[in-house]
Amino acid sequence: MPSISPAILVTGGTGYIGSHACVELLAAGYAIHVLDNLCNSRRSVQGRIERIAGKAITLHEGDIRDRAFLKDLFAVRRFDAVVHFAGLKAVGESVEKPELYFDNNVRGSGMLLAAMQEAGVRRMVFSSSATVYGETNTPPFTEDAATGPVNPYGQNKLAVEQMLADHARRHEDWRVALLRYFNPVGAHESGLIGEDPNGIPNNLMPYVSLVAAGRLKELSVFGNDFETADGTGVRDYVHVADLAAGHVAALNALDRLPPVRIFNLGTGRGYSVLDVVKEFERASGRAVPYRIAPRRPGDVAVSYADAARAARELDWRAGRGLATMCRDAWRWQQWRAAQPAEL
Ligand SMILES: NC(=O)c1ccc[n+]([C@@H]2O[C@H](COP(=O)([O-])OP(=O)(O)OC[C@H]3O[C@@H](n4cnc5c(N)ncnc54)[C@H](O)[C@@H]3O)[C@@H](O)[C@H]2O)c1
Repeated sequence: MPSISPAILVTGGTGYIGSHACVELLAAGYAIHVLDNLCNSRRSVQGRIERIAGKAITLHEGDIRDRAFLKDLFAVRRFDAVVHFAGLKAVGESVEKPELYFDNNVRGSGMLLAAMQEAGVRRMVFSSSATVYGETNTPPFTEDAATGPVNPYGQNKLAVEQMLADHARRHEDWRVALLRYFNPVGAHESGLIGEDPNGIPNNLMPYVSLVAAGRLKELSVFGNDFETADGTGVRDYVHVADLAAGHVAALNALDRLPPVRIFNLGTGRGYSVLDVVKEFERASGRAVPYRIAPRRPGDVAVSYADAARAARELDWRAGRGLATMCRDAWRWQQWRAAQPAEL
């Protein structure tokens, strides 16, 4: 008799990181149901995930804040776990619209949690962020470093972490992994999925990609007077395919972990903005013109992970280096540029 694959509900599964996680989860033998309201992603991602994985997934279009929709969805089948990516993620926008961010990210996660509790689904892997760490820590950051987010987006992440932790501690059979990503970059090696921001990108690598492609004039480098080797900010960039594999590792480990466990997902090493520019120029064979702009408020000089806990407890390591991250981001950029804008 054929065995039935455990079913995972992936919220935000047509987004950047979620789509890569779907590919990895399918390869690991899970059946995938995606919940997404497509506010920052496209329906066509479903077909591209399926093409890469050679397997079908189910897409449920809806919002994590819609109680009736969630009730119906959890009645469709018994999910083994939820991998929760759905959320808004632009730090600057969160400063402009804190109420929208709270509603979507915190209240939305609360609604999802309530629907899981009602349906008897007790396992969650949550997308958190290194932005929850305070500015006073010295890198590398361990999971025990002081928290102290400086913008509404980071505060939302910490609030959801705390809500999930409180819930899991109160209900004995719950298991939650809180994954704090450092700086996800790159794309699937096929070039079929990647970061596809609406409008002007907020993050470094998608911006650099568009400059290399000649679609944006130049990169603004925010500050060249930090205490780093070349004066520009240093970050821990992690390939999105490695990050996606971290979710499979966390999901597989949930039952042998404590009820609530935090993991940093990063490489444990940092690269400066100018390191990224140079490596991207090598990968693309194109120039990336840049100009130095003033520092942005809240930007720290250096941030990178202590990723030892994930290595020890999840047997997970981010193996892909900066050259692969740039090569894959560039391949994706070229594929995307060749498609119609409305794809
Ligand atoms: N990309 C990063 O640099 C980064 C770093 C740390 C943490 N994260 C977190 O990881 C998660 C995924 O990030 P991403 O980069 O893939 O972002 P993304 O915007 O590409 O993906 C998020 C997805 O969630 C969907 N979504 C948003 N609100 C929703 C709602 N209310 N109901 C249903 N669907 C909704 C969007 O349509 C999108 O497909 C987010 O929670 C983000 O905060 C991202």
